[in-house]
Amino acid sequence: MSRYRIEGGRRLQGEVTIGGAKNSAVAIIPAVVLSDGVCRIENIPNISDIFVSFEILKALGAQVRMLDPSTVEIDPRTICSHVVPHELARNMRASYYFLGSLLGKFGVARVSMPGGCNFGLRPIDQHLKGFTALGATVPPMIENGMIEASATHLIGNSIYLDVVSVGATINIMLAAVKARGITIIENAAKEPHIVDVANFLNAMGADIRGAGTDVIKICGVPHLYGTSYSIIPDQIEAGTFMAAAVATGGDVLIKNVVPKHLESISAKLQEMGATVEEIDDMVRVRMDGPIRHCNVKTMPHPGFPTDMQPQISVLLAMADGTSAVTDTVWENRFRYVDELRRMGAQAQVNGKVAVFEGVPMLTGAPVKAYDLRAGAAMVIAGLAAQGRTEIDDVHYIERGYEYFIEKLRGLGAEICRVDIPSPYAKRA
Ligand code: UD1
Repeated sequence: MSRYRIEGGRRLQGEVTIGGAKNSAVAIIPAVVLSDGVCRIENIPNISDIFVSFEILKALGAQVRMLDPSTVEIDPRTICSHVVPHELARNMRASYYFLGSLLGKFGVARVSMPGGCNFGLRPIDQHLKGFTALGATVPPMIENGMIEASATHLIGNSIYLDVVSVGATINIMLAAVKARGITIIENAAKEPHIVDVANFLNAMGADIRGAGTDVIKICGVPHLYGTSYSIIPDQIEAGTFMAAAVATGGDVLIKNVVPKHLESISAKLQEMGATVEEIDDMVRVRMDGPIRHCNVKTMPHPGFPTDMQPQISVLLAMADGTSAVTDTVWENRFRYVDELRRMGAQAQVNGKVAVFEGVPMLTGAPVKAYDLRAGAAMVIAGLAAQGRTEIDDVHYIERGYEYFIEKLRGLGAEICRVDIPSPYAKRA
């Protein structure tokens, strides 16, 4: 077991380089299953969700070889199984992408119910509705914890998503890319990683148009081929460093970003008094003076991302007045507010809305990471707080932030990872 120990109150200053997008990578790696040749993928983030994806590929029979810490070569031609076992699927939400890719390639997939962050009900009915529309059979009952889908032939169809779902949009693309005929996904999600996955599939020979809009058209092709591809920079990692710069009254140049992907985040930080400057593939974030209060509502892209909601809330907990944060995407994403209260925040949560009465200062405290982004929020709070903060359950944070400690220390933060003995360990 490990925890992060932070001595707060240090102003972040300097440069940091953002890694590849987690939410792209966790879909592109399963998408390789569809290829008839070797794929080389660059800008892979060094995070635990990616290691789990590689283990799943290996369990299916693929060859996975790291060429350097951010480049992988995957040969899917030796895949001989269509079953993703529980021990691997339970570690990661995005293991459900193997349903779409195995179904699209082999006409059959069995994937254990996915794990991952818990912020309320996380149904996959829209994924399954899409597979069914393409002609797959999906048993109505989950048996032995396994989700199953199978089809003799997948045939293109029109699918209207009842909710805007990132996962369903990508999973349906994966299943449809080799189906016979044309598939149209309406009310599709538009996040940058949807476009990235479509670009990767097109680089393998797929025919997908409209990704990034709410109507995606997929003309099925019989074969997909090996390719080389570089994953886009991580929008949320970049946003997290932007928020950390603001929280500490810092001045940080964030390199390897797509500023367009950060627009909704930059706009909110500017509203809060920060200066955000775009310079090619970099953003510089500076903060002087108090944080101005404002309201935030999360929405599907291009709205303010729910995956930045906990981090921005830390800023509002220290703002000069009252702010309301509404999460329209997830029903229960405010569990971390209890931890912020331990650090002196004044906040009330009512369903999908949290109201923060800004306080002049947070104070260090022992807290825990409830999930990946909640954990990142605790780190930001600890960096800004007076005194020492210790964060438990950091394995959540390491699912999605590469070299987090090292990057923060490079900006002047006083943060380290300490190993703590398990309370269940035998005494010598
Ligand atoms: C992805 C992201 C996650 C982010 C979320 C919303 C990955 C690996 N994870 O999760 O970090 O918080 O998008 O931006 O990319 N829903 C249904 N039925 C479905 C699917 C979704 O009702 O079949 C609902 C969900 O309960 C939720 C909303 O739709 O309220 C959005 O979920 P979705 O976009 O699917 O999230 P994920 O793809 O799981």
